[in-house]
Amino acid sequence: MKKVQLTETVLRDAQQSLMATRLPYKDYEDILSDMDKAGYYSIECWGGATFDSCLRYLGEDPWERLRNLRKNLPNTKLQMLLRGQNLLGYKHYHDDVVEKFIQLSIKNGIDVIRIFDALNDFRNIETALAATKKYATKNTVASGCISYTQSPVHTVDKYIEMCKELKNMGFDTICLKDMAGTMSPYEAEHLIKGIKDAIGDMTLILHTHCTTGMAYMTLTKAIESGIDVIDCAASCFSGGTSQPSTETMFYALRQYGIDTGLNEEIINKVNDFFKPVKQKYIDNGQINPKSLATDAQALVYKVPGGMLSNMIANLTDMHAMDKFDAALAEIPKVRADLGYPPLVTPLSQMVGNQAVTNVLVGERYKNISKEVKNYIKGEYGNPPAPIDEALSKKVLGDAQPVDCRIEDCKRTGEEFTDAKEKLGELCRSEEDIMSYICYPDQTLKFLKDRKAKEENEAVYTIEAM
Ligand code: CO
Repeated sequence: MKKVQLTETVLRDAQQSLMATRLPYKDYEDILSDMDKAGYYSIECWGGATFDSCLRYLGEDPWERLRNLRKNLPNTKLQMLLRGQNLLGYKHYHDDVVEKFIQLSIKNGIDVIRIFDALNDFRNIETALAATKKYATKNTVASGCISYTQSPVHTVDKYIEMCKELKNMGFDTICLKDMAGTMSPYEAEHLIKGIKDAIGDMTLILHTHCTTGMAYMTLTKAIESGIDVIDCAASCFSGGTSQPSTETMFYALRQYGIDTGLNEEIINKVNDFFKPVKQKYIDNGQINPKSLATDAQALVYKVPGGMLSNMIANLTDMHAMDKFDAALAEIPKVRADLGYPPLVTPLSQMVGNQAVTNVLVGERYKNISKEVKNYIKGEYGNPPAPIDEALSKKVLGDAQPVDCRIEDCKRTGEEFTDAKEKLGELCRSEEDIMSYICYPDQTLKFLKDRKAKEENEAVYTIEAM
């Protein structure tokens, strides 16, 4: 019997997409023992924005959350999303920090590490891969992930080359990450057939979003073309900017005679559990109805929905909404000038802001943002295609783009010692140090709060005696 497995994303990407990652651990602790029996390929539950959100908004220690997930999901593979050399932050960390972060992730309970780089510059995921292999247990899976985008240089052949490279690097599985939900059924068919031919029986995973309304059609074609694993979310947390629904895909696949290995009763029980959770966040405004709807604009303008709403907000602030059409038309031009980067964080913001600036100033690249300059200097990695020559010359002069970033990553020791010193007695574990390196201000506040809370509790205990 043909087999397609499902990854459940409700604990990470679904809640990140629909409610800005504000779902506290306590809200779902009681359903974990059931989820453990559902038969998912894996549960995506950590990494992405959850780490930041735990420290910044929820007053949770992300490492403690992971240990609790591990304790309550002993039989299921726990999955995280990692931004390569950026880990879960927005800058490039030194190699020893990347290695330690992965060692601790595995130690605290992660099995599947899905690793990507926004530019698909695989130098940025090498260290993370090596560390995953170094600290791997028998359940560890190193998943190489490609940021999917469309452009004249992003051909099927190019993606096949990337997949071959990921295979040669030593990844265990490969994931296509369609973060904007713009992969059409037609593209999925050609891409997946081509990739499966090239990589043989290596597990291929498709991650997409319902944002533009194509995801179910795209998954259907992907399944017909040989995909092994698809990412889905419990139905009440599916659709809109989230993933397609777990129970719906289970039902449809069963009629095709495709085995998902899922337990129908349990996946329905999981969804029943999350219904009132969702309602609570609709009632308090945390879930915006806009994120639950379909928005096909990304297909027309070739920009992700989030980027569009950002631009509208910026132009409205500057009382310049009359420039909206011009700015929109400028985006693909800026993207082409910059060598067609995938429009994913942080590139989407950089391209969007530069397009708005070009239009408002009335002269292209008269003002160039610091970030775009650094990108042109090569600090984010290699662009998919060469950068426009005139633009490059304007920023670099006669200099060449340099690999200063790659060199910088090789420096070791400093970030650790600095963090340990700064934390002083607040620090109790290597995990605390890693949290601080990734999110210094948020972690400092979190650790101070933790200490104050414990002191209060201690006083209370003495008084009660
Ligand atoms: Co996603």
